[in-house]
Amino acid sequence: MISYKDLGLVNSKDLFRNAMAGKYAIPAFNFNNMEQMQAIIQACVETKSPVILQVSSGARKYANQTLLRYMAQGAVEYAKELGFSVPVVLHLDHGDSFELCKSCIDFGFSSVMIDGSHFSYDENVALTRKVVEYAHAHDVTVEGELGVLAGVEDEVSAEHHTYTRPEEVEDFVNKTGVDSLAISIGTSHGANKFKPEQCSRNAEGVLVPPPLRFDILEEIERRIPGFAIVLHGASSVPQEYVATINKYGGALKDAVGIPEEQLRRAAASAVCKINIDSDGRLAMTAAVREVFANKPGEFDPRKYLGPARDSLKELYKHKIVNVLGSAGKA
Ligand code: G3H
Ligand code: 13P
Ligand code: ZN
Repeated sequence: MISYKDLGLVNSKDLFRNAMAGKYAIPAFNFNNMEQMQAIIQACVETKSPVILQVSSGARKYANQTLLRYMAQGAVEYAKELGFSVPVVLHLDHGDSFELCKSCIDFGFSSVMIDGSHFSYDENVALTRKVVEYAHAHDVTVEGELGVLAGVEDEVSAEHHTYTRPEEVEDFVNKTGVDSLAISIGTSHGANKFKPEQCSRNAEGVLVPPPLRFDILEEIERRIPGFAIVLHGASSVPQEYVATINKYGGALKDAVGIPEEQLRRAAASAVCKINIDSDGRLAMTAAVREVFANKPGEFDPRKYLGPARDSLKELYKHKIVNVLGSAGKA
């Protein structure tokens, strides 16, 4: 049993309390490798932002849970070395079983998500409650989920979303004891969040998605005032990355995300954590494709992963400063 406290990590409790009071959101960035971790920490140190490092089941399979945890531990020291100690949460993204959550808690994670959103309401309550009991005994924070996001959540994929039902949230929070709640108000995972037929087109022919259901968010806030809400599927799919990827041989069609002004509005509400993964994937892919296209003789991974890391860092700084509002809050 390893406590996250011995690793220099923190749970999300104080971060969410401050984010709620200050009307901003904590960035939750997924990481699978060293370059992503470096970009996240560099961006957070330069902007003095707290951060949640997220590990999905896919990341555990790809990189190995042990290596990722040591990397998160290293991230705390790396931040200090860069000149500013930022609060770092190590969070399990979309945990799908009690055993997985327990394994992460026992191994030094400071926060876990138990995603029971694909189960019946009662099964979701029972599973989430079980995780909360174990996690709280170790001072680890827990995120639950009500409502289903369209798109792929690790191995679970849903074609249609089911909006969170505000009438369930109070009961769910009281019965489970969760510290935060992920909700479904129209975001979804991946780079193709909406079908073209769901969107309109602006003057430049760019797809404009339907707005998020802020009415549902407001009703949830009314029912559980001051409670930390989490937004998954919050990438905005910057069209400049899509254009660069397609210019240099990619084939991303109809990629569309959540407009940043809607995320800014969410960050100023009870939304205290905003999850971004796909935008980072696009930034890295665009940078790598550009190097490969312009320098076909290049074969040193540092020469394409380096620019990818730089691009990722700029993306994260932009999100922190201009979208989430967490700069200077570390
Ligand atoms: O929720 C989905 C995250 O973007 C993680 O994706 O399961 O491919 O690592 P992944
Ligand atoms: P995106 O696919 O929109 O980046 O969402 C990531 C996410 O919700 C991770 O849990
Ligand atoms: Zn998610």
